[in-house]
Amino acid sequence: MLPRAWSEGQIVVRTVEVAQTPALHAAVTECVDIVALDPTFAEVPESEVGELVEQSVAEEAQERGFRMRSIHVGSAEELAGYFHLMEDVPTAGDAWLSILAIRPRFRRSGVGTTLIKSLKRVLAAEGFRFALARVYLANIPALQFWTRLGFTEIVPHRGDYIGQDLGKPCIVLRASLGE
Ligand SMILES: CC(C)(COP(=O)(O)OP(=O)(O)OC[C@H]1O[C@@H](n2cnc3c(N)ncnc32)[C@H](O)[C@@H]1OP(=O)(O)O)[C@@H](O)C(=O)NCCC(=O)NCCS
Repeated sequence: MLPRAWSEGQIVVRTVEVAQTPALHAAVTECVDIVALDPTFAEVPESEVGELVEQSVAEEAQERGFRMRSIHVGSAEELAGYFHLMEDVPTAGDAWLSILAIRPRFRRSGVGTTLIKSLKRVLAAEGFRFALARVYLANIPALQFWTRLGFTEIVPHRGDYIGQDLGKPCIVLRASLGE
């Protein structure tokens, strides 16, 4: 089970709460700047974000489930972004990072790198063997980001190495969490 909160360097990671929904919706709406590279970041209504927050809160008591965590920086713990993680997806021992979003003004300052390095350690300690991320082939900044963080193995996505999600080509990158 992913811990509810941890901190590492400049960042604090926290489980999301229903009251945060408007702020999380605003953060994902800012990420519409990269929709041409990654169609996941098309604008969504606040209710859609709210449903995911509620699912995460509801599954918090389960040993394995859907987790949503917010990422904060600085002494004021400003919201810098968030991520979604599905435990034991697609197979037992896997941690599937379905969304990672850093707000535009917090990008390129090491927040994502600090997060993923610490998340890999946290997941390994929780017994997960692999972390996986689906990346759209047009999203070169993200490909650069993930491969530098050890997500260097391309694994089939629904039977194909190059999958199609939301009508766009994508691949799934996997990082081993072992030694
Ligand atoms: C991709 C993302 C998560 C990276 O987070 P971040 O906090 O900006 O990343 P970091 O500052 O730790 O950057 C680490 C490295 O990633 C790569 N990188 C990140 N953004 C990049 C960009 N816009 N162009 C090229 N490389 C980039 C670089 O190698 C960078 O190292 P450098 O700054 O020393 O060159 C973030 O930019 C983001 O949320 N983007 C929009 C949403 C998205 O694409 N999510 C991932 C979907 S799979």
